[in-house]
Amino acid sequence: MSPARLPGRFVVLEGIDGAGTTTQAAALTAALKERGYRVLTTCEPSDGPIGSLIRQALVGRLGLPGRRGPLSAGTLALLFAADRVDHLEAEVLPALRRGEVVICDRYLLSSLAYQGASLPMGWVEQANARAVAPDLTLFVEVAVKTASKRRSLRGGEPELFDADVKQRRIARQYLAAIRRRARKERIVRVDGSKPVEEVTRRSLEEILRLLPRPR
Ligand code: TMP
Repeated sequence: MSPARLPGRFVVLEGIDGAGTTTQAAALTAALKERGYRVLTTCEPSDGPIGSLIRQALVGRLGLPGRRGPLSAGTLALLFAADRVDHLEAEVLPALRRGEVVICDRYLLSSLAYQGASLPMGWVEQANARAVAPDLTLFVEVAVKTASKRRSLRGGEPELFDADVKQRRIARQYLAAIRRRARKERIVRVDGSKPVEEVTRRSLEEILRLLPRPR
């Protein structure tokens, strides 16, 4: 039974930009499916209406009217919280009700780390009071420099939180958020500087501990 009292299991991957959570989500999904589990792979910002707005804001295509600047940190924090509720109701909870393993690339800890870097963490947490706790959060830990190199190799449009100074602050906030939540939730730190396959093996080990044998 998950914390949401549902038959599925809710697993979240977290880390600074370039930590490799998206690669790990795909690799873990494949490994779980191979073992016979039914898996929903998803992410936040979600593909829903609010998630799409957020993605526009992240690349500077959505801001205040009359080009008066980007959305404020508070507005963005509330959008992430609204997207989370929408994503839970539309995708995550139905999959947990069906007994699936949900692998979610980013969740509440991202808001505590990224929005908590410019807003009081307690306020961000309150705005997310409706977010059910995951069964397991895997924090893929990498050095800011390593993550920055990986991002530049990946290319793509520059995003709001890309600068290394911001990432350094976000990395510190992650550790503060983990300390804050670890009493109530299972959060495991995984060494993301190891080869991809090694990170997957270690993460899979943690996930399998939660799971009954597949039917
Ligand atoms: P992505 O790169 O994993 O697609 O995520 C997009 C960006 O959104 C990434 O820089 C992290 C940021 N983000 C937040 O600031 N707060 C949140 O709650 C989430 C889920 C993501």
